[in-house]
Amino acid sequence: MEQDNLLRDQDLACGPAGQDHVVLDPKHPGINDGFYVRRREMIYRLSRDGRISESEVPRIGYTENDDSVWRYVCRKLQEVHERNACDIFLEGKKALGFEEGAMPELHDLSEGTYARSGFRLIPAEGMLSSKDFFRYLSRNRMPCTQYLRHHSKPEYTPEPDAVHDVMGHVPLLVDRNYAEIVRMIGEAGARAEGENLIKLTRFYWFTIEFGLIRQAGALKVFGAGLLSSFGEMTYCYSDDVDRRPLDIDDVVETDYDPTIMQPTLFVIESMEQLREATIELARRYGS
Ligand SMILES: [Fe+2]
Repeated sequence: MEQDNLLRDQDLACGPAGQDHVVLDPKHPGINDGFYVRRREMIYRLSRDGRISESEVPRIGYTENDDSVWRYVCRKLQEVHERNACDIFLEGKKALGFEEGAMPELHDLSEGTYARSGFRLIPAEGMLSSKDFFRYLSRNRMPCTQYLRHHSKPEYTPEPDAVHDVMGHVPLLVDRNYAEIVRMIGEAGARAEGENLIKLTRFYWFTIEFGLIRQAGALKVFGAGLLSSFGEMTYCYSDDVDRRPLDIDDVVETDYDPTIMQPTLFVIESMEQLREATIELARRYGS
């Protein structure tokens, strides 16, 4: 069944790291578009080299088709963001000057987040192991993909792409307090092994990717996986979803399936609560 642009295991995925070329899903909408496939190869190499060398974030030079995907997504998400996104996300989006016109370059966005919160954006060619991913977070770096889904189906991607990373994660990383919490989760995850690493991954998933927050009495969204998906932004408010108060014991024992709409979500009362939970989590599992 084809789904909306649901995010899969994404940045935290357990795909084989170190692969040296693009592997598209057989059902990827762009798989028979030779130009798209060649560009994906080019972007893969640029992003991978940029990540490994840690030099300047490479500029991609987005095409009109890429820009059309970005415009479509911006327009479609704008209204639902204004209604349901948390304050720091909306403020970050404004601060970075997200525009409908053209797909922004990660290079420029990274300068924007770094200047405000000290967090850099670094290129990622695709999925990284959760361990590698946490190591980057612990160093104030968020790995972000630079390729976009195929323009024929702007609402769908079988893999994490820049719509998720740029639209979902980047605006939040403008906020210094939030960025600090992300770094702390990364530090704990970088130290954790085995079962503890799985617990840290679940905590990241149910907060940074799929978290809800109570804000002035209203339920708002702060998880990047929700903020970058039209379907999830609506579904997360439905009666089909089990929305539970954040409880560390519950979160770290709750498994998730990244291939479906998320049936279980956790709600925090404030960013301060998330910070305190992260400190406790790091104490228990991050060593
Ligand atoms: Fe993500």
